[in-house]
Amino acid sequence: MASSIVIVGSCMMDFVCYSPRLPHEGETLHGYKFVTNFGGKGANQCVAAHKLGGSTTMIARVGDDLWGDKYISNFKDLGINHVYVRKTPGISSGIAQISVADSGANQIIIVAGANSQLSVNDIQDAKSAIQNANVLVCQLETSADVAIEAMKLCKGQIILNGAPALATYSPELLTLPSIFCVNESEASVFSGVSVHTPQDAEIALKSFMKKGCQCVIITMGSEGAVFASKDDPTPIHVRAPKKQCVDSTGAGDSFIGCLAYLLAEYKQLSMNSCVSISCSMATDSCTKPGTQISFPDADILKNCMQQYLNF
Ligand code: RIB
Ligand code: NA
Repeated sequence: MASSIVIVGSCMMDFVCYSPRLPHEGETLHGYKFVTNFGGKGANQCVAAHKLGGSTTMIARVGDDLWGDKYISNFKDLGINHVYVRKTPGISSGIAQISVADSGANQIIIVAGANSQLSVNDIQDAKSAIQNANVLVCQLETSADVAIEAMKLCKGQIILNGAPALATYSPELLTLPSIFCVNESEASVFSGVSVHTPQDAEIALKSFMKKGCQCVIITMGSEGAVFASKDDPTPIHVRAPKKQCVDSTGAGDSFIGCLAYLLAEYKQLSMNSCVSISCSMATDSCTKPGTQISFPDADILKNCMQQYLNF
């Protein structure tokens, strides 16, 4: 039987404008394409793991509106367990306003809506699923208290994606997860070390280790990722394949979804291999527009594993 991956987190409707570049403050720009997509870091990570072949369960809240219904239908169509995705009366679904430039760079504003109502009670209601999960995945578009409650219940491996970053947080947020995963800007906020290069990331990793983290991965876009753990504190820099990027939105979610899938299904893989393969899947997602619709499937993963690991 497939190992279970439980994701606690956000669902957002993404309203995406594509334009030649990102606007400056106060500037109005002509874009050339507008689309709505299913997004939100939690759901993206869930779909990323599911598309690779993972057995996934989503715990989330959507609004009592058209988007909430559409979002639940999307989970249904994909075959994702959504019994713990609830509609919340009197509040809109989470919305993300996204700008994507021709370089693939993006800017995102989120309005959490129903995601802000995901509660500790919701986690208690899903207690058995969380306790039986082989891998639990949380992020911070829903409340940190919710993530902490879920992490305390989980007996399996735990990935916390510290996104978006929090300037103030309970120390447990960093000590409970088996793997704490952040990008450069989130690493800067959480560690207090300004992270722009892999060398900066190594300094930030030292600070994370002092804070009691078990294992930390700092993703660095086209530079790949740098990671270290309590047992193996020397930072390791894993490079990402070079590919033409058209839309980097959700690349971090593709990375996390792949990591969760590998932890669930390939328990013998080294952290180095897990990070390399996850970097490849994230890079692949950047070659196509959108988030969930751009995430690689099981065939792409299989090819990658054959290429890199002779699987
Ligand atoms: O990580 C990408 C996601 O962040 C987007 O799908 C958007 O919804 C925001 O939550
Ligand atoms: Na993409």
